[in-house]
Amino acid sequence: ANMNNREAKLSLAAMVAAKAKNGETIGFGSGSSSYLTILEIGKRVATEGLQIKAIPTSHEVELTCTQQQIPTVSFNTARPDWCFDGADEIDPKSNLIKGRGGAMFKEKLIMAASPKTFILADSSKLVKKLGEKFPVPVEVIPFALSSVESSLLTLGAVSIQLRMAGGKDGPVITENGNFILDVRFNDIGEGLEKMIKLIPGVLDNGLFMGYNIEVVSS
Ligand code: A5P
Repeated sequence: ANMNNREAKLSLAAMVAAKAKNGETIGFGSGSSSYLTILEIGKRVATEGLQIKAIPTSHEVELTCTQQQIPTVSFNTARPDWCFDGADEIDPKSNLIKGRGGAMFKEKLIMAASPKTFILADSSKLVKKLGEKFPVPVEVIPFALSSVESSLLTLGAVSIQLRMAGGKDGPVITENGNFILDVRFNDIGEGLEKMIKLIPGVLDNGLFMGYNIEVVSS
């Protein structure tokens, strides 16, 4: 059957929520697939008395946890047993582009600390090559904006756009107080994530290469 996107996301969310077990600490990703998963976990908390703790990757996720009566715990005092998240693009080697929601810094931090990650992947996310649809989001400390742009051009960037909030709201400011550059490359090679990360003034970027990921698809 040809499921629409929301139905696909809902069934993946139920599959991932079913993995939660009493006593676990779980990293909660951001975005709409993660949101639906949080609602499904919230149902299990309400109906089965499921006892877990969440480590949220954004303020938005933290608020959703509060609404769903899912207890949260600080990343400074706990580590995840596993985590779940969405992605914008997934290649055949399970490398990802993330960060359409601008939450990639905390998402990567928590994924890096997590022994296992489930990525919710409706069919719209699967690509042959990273960069087919989306640019690579790069989180930049505002003081370094111009020099980071120059360094990105040196790394082969073909277009760089400062992400704007829309309307009269000016540039997007991340939860960490930074700007986001959306950067297109003709070719995203194996080393690009680390090369971008090494640019002084870059906090992190939306390439996730080589993580221990299990792609959950229908
Ligand atoms: C948040 O910054 C992103 O990395 C999201 O995880 C990504 O955009 C996936 O979002 P959806 O689940 O809404 O497709």
